[in-house]
Amino acid sequence: MTMPTMLGAETVAPDTTSLSSFLPVADLGVLAVNAFVIHAEQPILVHTGAAALRQPFLAALADAIDPSDLRYIFLSHMDADHLGNLDAVLALAPQAKVLTNFLGMAKMMLQERDLSRVSLIEPGSEIDLGDRRLVPLKPPYYDAPETTGFFDTKSRVLFSADAFGALLESPETEAAAIAPDALRDGMLGWAAIDAPWLATADGGKFGRLLRNIERLDPTAIVSGHLPVARGVTGRLTRNLNDALSGGTFAVPDHDTFERLLAEVAAAA
Ligand SMILES: [Fe+2]
Ligand SMILES: [Fe+2]
Repeated sequence: MTMPTMLGAETVAPDTTSLSSFLPVADLGVLAVNAFVIHAEQPILVHTGAAALRQPFLAALADAIDPSDLRYIFLSHMDADHLGNLDAVLALAPQAKVLTNFLGMAKMMLQERDLSRVSLIEPGSEIDLGDRRLVPLKPPYYDAPETTGFFDTKSRVLFSADAFGALLESPETEAAAIAPDALRDGMLGWAAIDAPWLATADGGKFGRLLRNIERLDPTAIVSGHLPVARGVTGRLTRNLNDALSGGTFAVPDHDTFERLLAEVAAAA
């Protein structure tokens, strides 16, 4: 796969639709880039996808929900892979407020984005969607300090932002269907890219974060960068525990960069 690819809207958990895409990552495989719609009493969109897939993303969103029904757009952090279509969605969703925390808002300000529709997530507060609450939490690793995940109190789905992501050989729709070794290697590779600081993290403290996730006993873990993970929480936490010391990432060289540019140009 050499070009970004949108898979479309798919139900992945109770009241939860994924808007999943895959992006090629140099010679390292493909990476899922997922957004989600939670069909709550007050519907919420989690992330807005990558700009490279704007039209297919908006089409998938329209398949999942009438965007004008959205009340919130949740941004876990301000990386381009998650807010690539923010302005386009805001234009289609005039009732929607953007949910982020203070640091996320500050980064939006630095990007000269419209802050008039931002609603801040205060420390210790929860997000009331009418029929459920989203309880904000810090994922076990992340690449930006504003990063916020959440636990859905009704569906018991855990949204982990960038954490639990994996580099894969090809697009998949279900983490449980990935061969265990491929899933482990892909998670270690992604963790080494996304959070190289894990190599210096305290193993005991990190292990307690992973145990806390196991105690939540989520019905599914939905990550920005992994196919939906149902029934494999223990496998995922064990893989992340291994990521403390096991991940490596060889940076592609300039010749690889030139070759990839040529491949993209040829495919366009
Ligand atoms: Fe990120
Ligand atoms: Fe990301």
